[in-house]
Amino acid sequence: MKVMIIGGGAREHTLAWKIAQSPKVKRIYVAPGNAGTGLAAHNLSLRPTDIEALGKAAQEKSIDLAVVGPEVPLALGIVDHFNDLGIPIFGPTKAATQIESSKVFAKGLMQKYGIPCPKGVAFSSYSEAQKYLQKQQPPIVIKADGLAAGKGVTVANTMEEAEKALANSMKKKIFGPAGNKVLIEEHLVGKEVSLLAFTDGKTVIPMIPACDYKRVFDNDQGSNTGGMGSYSPPSFFNATLTQKVTQSVLTPAINALTKEGMPYKGVLYAGLIISDGEPKVLEFNARFGDPETQVTLPRLKTDLIDILLAVINDNLDHIDINWSSDACVGVVMASAGYPGSYKTGFFIKGLDKLDEDILVFHAGTKSDESGNIYTNGGRVLTVAATGKNMAEARNKAYRNLPHIYFEGCHYRQDIAAREIT
Ligand code: GLY
Repeated sequence: MKVMIIGGGAREHTLAWKIAQSPKVKRIYVAPGNAGTGLAAHNLSLRPTDIEALGKAAQEKSIDLAVVGPEVPLALGIVDHFNDLGIPIFGPTKAATQIESSKVFAKGLMQKYGIPCPKGVAFSSYSEAQKYLQKQQPPIVIKADGLAAGKGVTVANTMEEAEKALANSMKKKIFGPAGNKVLIEEHLVGKEVSLLAFTDGKTVIPMIPACDYKRVFDNDQGSNTGGMGSYSPPSFFNATLTQKVTQSVLTPAINALTKEGMPYKGVLYAGLIISDGEPKVLEFNARFGDPETQVTLPRLKTDLIDILLAVINDNLDHIDINWSSDACVGVVMASAGYPGSYKTGFFIKGLDKLDEDILVFHAGTKSDESGNIYTNGGRVLTVAATGKNMAEARNKAYRNLPHIYFEGCHYRQDIAAREIT
């Protein structure tokens, strides 16, 4: 098979790494990829948002299967476009992707179908939203409706912060049209976990749970990022909770989308909070998580191609999905200044100094003709390790991280620490 992966982050490098293990796969293309995918596969210099060009390239290269990493091409309708071209593609349609691309849509769906989630009210009028906000007590959550590259959610601890977030979204339009509508939500306290599932629209098979770390600094200090690390499995999320979330969240959401005339196929990602012992949905995403993928796919024993094809061919009920009992920890190395502004082009040294079983998934990297690798983004690498338990996985990752260096690099020291102490 020839496979095309769309995206250029560490999630897509992990997908390429896992797909390359399938005996069914002869060639992998990644568009646009990074220096890491360039070593494991063939990079195509195409933007993930240019769905016409991606479709053309897939036809020219006789692609047998396309896999979409990021949300933006899904929201632009890449799956619909590839379906029209007759190219098998893994992911939901544009209509079904609304579960991620519109927070107002997702909340309405959850409220209509009784899927547990924080209380929330949607607004398209700034003055109505302001009036409602005045009657609330902080902390309160303000969410821009559309895709905002992970920056659209504000947990406001004061009324001033809440008002500012509302004005930024609806008046100043800092997210563009994505902020025309907002959700104002109650703030829940609890442990957060990501549970993703494969689905062909009928069968729903949960993956193993994972936790990600969104703040830039240790102890969840500093700004939100695209994710600074992750681990799997979290000890507080057992098989009973997985079963409960499958029954009360994942399956009802898939059935609801079918009822609404937008059947869903691909990966459904539930971002959950366990509040007073009850899992509630903070967000849905329509794709694999980043950096969750970097710590879940290393634990997947089943051929990923078999799963992806079963989803596309509507026979997921014929597949057994097996996971290793190992633990996995992934730590993101980022550029100085990230998630604010940062410089790129710094030489990355030490990648050849790591223990053999350390996994390095590239994100913002590029290489020169001699094979030297340089930084090319905010999040640069995810360094991941597996072990027979969390302490072993964590020790392996943190023992190897200091061998890698680029100017200004930083990473959190506390990924999975709460599982050890
Ligand atoms: N880990 C958060 C996300 O993938 O959106």
